[in-house]
Amino acid sequence: MLDSERIIVCCGSGGVGKTTTAAALALRAAERGRRVVVLTIDPARRLAQSLGLTALDNTPREVSGVDGSAGGRLDAMMLDMKRTFDEIVLEHSTPERAEALLANPFYQSLSSSFAGTQEYMAMEKLGQLDASGVWDLIVVDTPPTRSALDFLDAPGRLGDFLDGRLLRVLLAPAKAGGRAYAKVLGAGLGMFTRVITKVLGAQLLADLSQFVAALETMFGGFRARADQTFRLLAAPGTSFVVVAAPEAAALREASYFVDRLDADGMPLAGLIVNRMHFSEASALTVERGLAGAETLAEHGEHPLAAAVLRIHADRARLAERETRLRERFTSAHPDTALVEVEALSGDVHDLAGLREIGRALAGEQQ
Ligand SMILES: Nc1ncnc2c1ncn2[C@@H]1O[C@H](COP(=O)(O)OP(=O)(O)OP(=O)(O)O)[C@@H](O)[C@H]1O
Ligand SMILES: [Mg+2]
Repeated sequence: MLDSERIIVCCGSGGVGKTTTAAALALRAAERGRRVVVLTIDPARRLAQSLGLTALDNTPREVSGVDGSAGGRLDAMMLDMKRTFDEIVLEHSTPERAEALLANPFYQSLSSSFAGTQEYMAMEKLGQLDASGVWDLIVVDTPPTRSALDFLDAPGRLGDFLDGRLLRVLLAPAKAGGRAYAKVLGAGLGMFTRVITKVLGAQLLADLSQFVAALETMFGGFRARADQTFRLLAAPGTSFVVVAAPEAAALREASYFVDRLDADGMPLAGLIVNRMHFSEASALTVERGLAGAETLAEHGEHPLAAAVLRIHADRARLAERETRLRERFTSAHPDTALVEVEALSGDVHDLAGLREIGRALAGEQQ
């Protein structure tokens, strides 16, 4: 996968290791000779630091410390959704229009907080990075959205928002302009607008109208590019990777992602079950470990050995439970490739840690 894919998208529910996986896959591909960029979203602070992502400037920067002897390199960037949105505005309107829109309070709140904006902007950025032709491989981290719907539907949802009836009504004054609009709208809507004006205040309404009018002129462009990115995602050379923790809830969510990607015709590389616990001394079962601990405890002997046996039993039990959960997933999705990645003892915050995760992802662990 790392030798031929052009785009890899890591998705999954919150906190399961999407950013870590994206960075590990990107680093590994770079050290195997490819020119790679990883687009991260809200990386944990220490990881961001070791990737050199100290300034949120929305441009890829080369990561230092990467072994480039095979001819590859790694660039990393952190998505700044507001900045990405601003850049689109600047690119697609006249300077005066852009200035008015950027200052508009509705624009400011949409660009920094509208649910779905982050997913949409991640896709927008992916489209830009791809169009630049600079990289062989783009690895995309995704926001911790509850469902894949949020992620895949982002362009559609922005469209729904802009197509919204209320907004269209509010837009009418700006469109019709001045006095003409009373005639165009008719009495009913005129009254409606007057009430809204009273409630919201004239300035607010003017802002909103201006905002929607401005967005609408750019909207054709937005939608066309979103469609283009959607096609890019479904095209050969793109793979989705679903990341999950070995926990019931995360695996349920992962099942949903897998089904959803399938339904949308998105190419799925497989599931990564991250932070698995493997029991080293598998010959020593939970029962025998616990029995041994009991025996030692009964005799009041070797308290340290008894504690070790107990810890081992706990770990073995955890490993068994995780394995059962994973097996349940496999029987529900027999055709989905699955890779297990062991839980490292600390968090993953530097290139060495990422390399270790990368080896596990490639099946070189253990
Ligand atoms: N295999 C692993 N072993 C040990 N720690 C890990 C492993 N994978 C991830 N972590 C740690 O778990 C934490 C969460 O990982 P990460 O930030 O990659 O998750 P995420 O899915 O991107 O989270 P979010 O949904 O908040 O964006 C981080 O501190 C990371 O270092
Ligand atoms: Mg993350």
